[in-house]
Amino acid sequence: MDNTSIIHIKDTNPARTRLVADWQTLMRTFIRPESDTGRPALIKYMEQILFGLHDFLKTHVGITEEISLKELADRFTDTRISDHPEKKLEHVIADLIQGIAPHAVNVASPFFVGHMTSAIPYFMVHLKTIVTALNQNVVKIETSKLVSIVEKQVLAKIHRLIFNSDDAFYREHVQNAETTLGCFVEDGTLANYTALWVARNQLLKPKGDFAGVERSGVGAALRTYGIDRCVILATRFGHFSLNKAAGLLGIGNENIVTVDTDARGRMDPGALDRTIRILQESGKSTRVMAVVGIAGTTETGAVDPLDRMADICRKNGIHFHVDAAWGGPTLMSEKYRDLLDGIAQADSVTIDGHKQFYMPMTCGMVFFKDPSALDAVAYYARYVNRPGSVDLGIKSISGSREANSLVLHSALKIMGSKGYALLIEHGIETAEAFAQEISKRSLFELVTPPTLNILTYRLCPPKLREKLQGGDAKEARRTARTINEINIALQRLQREAGKSFVSRTTLGGTDSLGEDRVVLRCVIMNPMTTLDTLKAVLDEQEALYRSYLV
Ligand SMILES: Cc1ncc(COP(=O)(O)O)c(C=O)c1O
Repeated sequence: MDNTSIIHIKDTNPARTRLVADWQTLMRTFIRPESDTGRPALIKYMEQILFGLHDFLKTHVGITEEISLKELADRFTDTRISDHPEKKLEHVIADLIQGIAPHAVNVASPFFVGHMTSAIPYFMVHLKTIVTALNQNVVKIETSKLVSIVEKQVLAKIHRLIFNSDDAFYREHVQNAETTLGCFVEDGTLANYTALWVARNQLLKPKGDFAGVERSGVGAALRTYGIDRCVILATRFGHFSLNKAAGLLGIGNENIVTVDTDARGRMDPGALDRTIRILQESGKSTRVMAVVGIAGTTETGAVDPLDRMADICRKNGIHFHVDAAWGGPTLMSEKYRDLLDGIAQADSVTIDGHKQFYMPMTCGMVFFKDPSALDAVAYYARYVNRPGSVDLGIKSISGSREANSLVLHSALKIMGSKGYALLIEHGIETAEAFAQEISKRSLFELVTPPTLNILTYRLCPPKLREKLQGGDAKEARRTARTINEINIALQRLQREAGKSFVSRTTLGGTDSLGEDRVVLRCVIMNPMTTLDTLKAVLDEQEALYRSYLV
């Protein structure tokens, strides 16, 4: 019998094998220091996993319609939990590798250039395994000890990367139990939420008999402050996590006021100034709770003019949040860090670990310039998280939480900022070369040139382009819709062919007629993605167009 199976096999004849849950064998599956018996099995299974998945990663991109989602869903409809064990671990692993992985998506393929999810360095798997094996809970020091202290150091390192305060500042705060430079959360969504949560509570803080919005609620806050609503200002390229946050915080997501952009999708600082003035002049009824600058928009990678926005926010006493979920790690490249000029003047900054820190899913982080800012959301409990303790759960939306900081702590040591800079620079420079390649091909049109490593383009045959620019507005509108349909079909055909993947989005009202433009979107973060890879993606698109769409 296999020592590490949680099952006892009742009969050695496989035809009559019945698996029965058994206490003694179950006990052997728990990680315990005194047991050496599990060791060879652990190694054997890790090998089975890594080599099995290696084969999968070599062969599939995996967005094909070879088997439809409906057929796949039909295989997973049994909703009963079996009474007795069904399978041994090695068979479960085999099932995952042979039955599940081939129908998952090989995001590690160099030809998978459609989303912000990509290959990760292999050491991330080892680091994540350590986090799992240690199973620390960083909600409190009693279940994490040194690991919480390491987390504070990692937060200080990234804080320094963003805000670059002086040595004395970091000496004072790096391990200060009273102050907090930021926090790890599950993802970018919760990082943005935390920043806006703090902004709301600082704006609608206690006053006289009013105990503050966190305690007394939004209704009482608006009455106390004599206002009808709070608004958040961002461009239409803001991530939809801002809408979720506005909903959850009781601000209402229709109170996210859209500020105009320039032709490259960056916030127009003049428009920001004007919008704030108009809102202020509308009497006391509206207060601006936060302005959100985006350092790498999800759809096009554009970076808002953070320095100009910071000046405007300072002048008006408004919380300035920078959503650098995507672009934040650009700060590690000496060559390109000035693209994010002004980020150091933000009040809060979001950065995702699972994006350009190349960490495994998932890791969000939010940082605050003021080490006391997170006091606005502090919660204590009688059994843990007592005032004055280092418990990281005090100032965090999350409760129990894995020690993701250990992964980043180690990755920063393995890579150094120069290692990360190489990845960032490869992405930006490959995107630039790709943009030039698109511009050279008559069948394509570059729609949003890259600032970082994201660009959009579309297939726009010269004949249709001429019609688009021709005098007849009605005909031009019809042509615009045809071009959109071609690009929708092209993206689907390529995805279903399964060799490569670019994503698609719609840029609202952006052509000369004010029509929506369907564009193909490329995110270049995989270091194995080269200009040749991208030329092959374009070649395939040309071939698909000529075979199916002319
Ligand atoms: C700019 C930006 N902000 C926030 C997010 C949300 O991140 P997550 O998906 O980790 O919640 C994303 C995700 O793509 C993003 O691109």
